[in-house]
Amino acid sequence: MSTALITGPTSGLGRQFAIQLASRGHDLVLVSRDETRLQELALELGDAHRIECEIIVADLSKGEQLYEVEKRVADERQPIDWLINNAGFGLNDPFLGTDIEAEQALLDVLVRTPMRLTHRALPGMMARGYGRVVIVSSVASWITSGTYSAAKSWATVFTEGVSGELRGTDVNISALCPGFVRTEFHERADMDMKGIPSRMWLNADEVVATSLKDVDRGRVISVPSIKYQALSQGVKLVPRSLVRRFSSMPPALGD
Ligand SMILES: NC(=O)c1ccc[n+]([C@@H]2O[C@H](COP(=O)([O-])OP(=O)(O)OC[C@H]3O[C@@H](n4cnc5c(N)ncnc54)[C@H](OP(=O)(O)O)[C@@H]3O)[C@@H](O)[C@H]2O)c1
Repeated sequence: MSTALITGPTSGLGRQFAIQLASRGHDLVLVSRDETRLQELALELGDAHRIECEIIVADLSKGEQLYEVEKRVADERQPIDWLINNAGFGLNDPFLGTDIEAEQALLDVLVRTPMRLTHRALPGMMARGYGRVVIVSSVASWITSGTYSAAKSWATVFTEGVSGELRGTDVNISALCPGFVRTEFHERADMDMKGIPSRMWLNADEVVATSLKDVDRGRVISVPSIKYQALSQGVKLVPRSLVRRFSSMPPALGD
């Protein structure tokens, strides 16, 4: 059976990726900082689905810890067939008022990590003739909300670029671009989300089910739910000056 490596599986979307890939019978490699939660999840899913669950405790904003994960991804004795680049967080301060080290950590987790892990994963997948890579981006990649939006724009465009190099193979890459999803994301960043209407919130299980279906059928950009698909098309039609104005009204379209 094949093995999936998931970054950020201890809550939210990553946890759902772990649950749904485990239920399909994939062995898992679970990567994040919280060792207790990783162990609990590995035990729970290993028992429930009779799969192998390995954990790697790593802070992906730290280059030397990321390197340990890179080595695991590139280890051809235990190949990774599914790579889910999911770990991430948001910042709640304007760029001018923020701690520059927090901005750097954001880029390291949202950009450096998926770039390096994907670069390590793809050669083996190509050689074996099969692979699936998901990069969790956001509808925020269409707007202009600070370093976070810029990092998610990178994720979406990077995915589109790499997909061209994979054309004609059974190695697929897909950018998952959700809107607001009920996870720990906003609470961790201390964001006040009371103004967001309940109809705009998505459930993590549905978002992940859509992503898995889309990456399997070779859809390069996956936007779960019709309302966010319509919003995404709409954002592309309005002048960028309006997008910029809208983006500076917190909280904006996505996260
Ligand atoms: N929720 C939304 O509305 C929304 C919308 C669009 C896109 N997204 C994206 O979805 C992805 C998952 O977020 P979520 O909403 O599921 O948030 P979440 O519930 O807060 O989960 C974030 C996950 O990322 C891990 N993580 C964060 N920083 C890390 C670091 N430095 N090193 C290793 N792991 C780290 C956390 O694990 P540990 O704490 O154990 O390290 C946790 O498992 C993110 O990329 C986010 O940008 C979220």
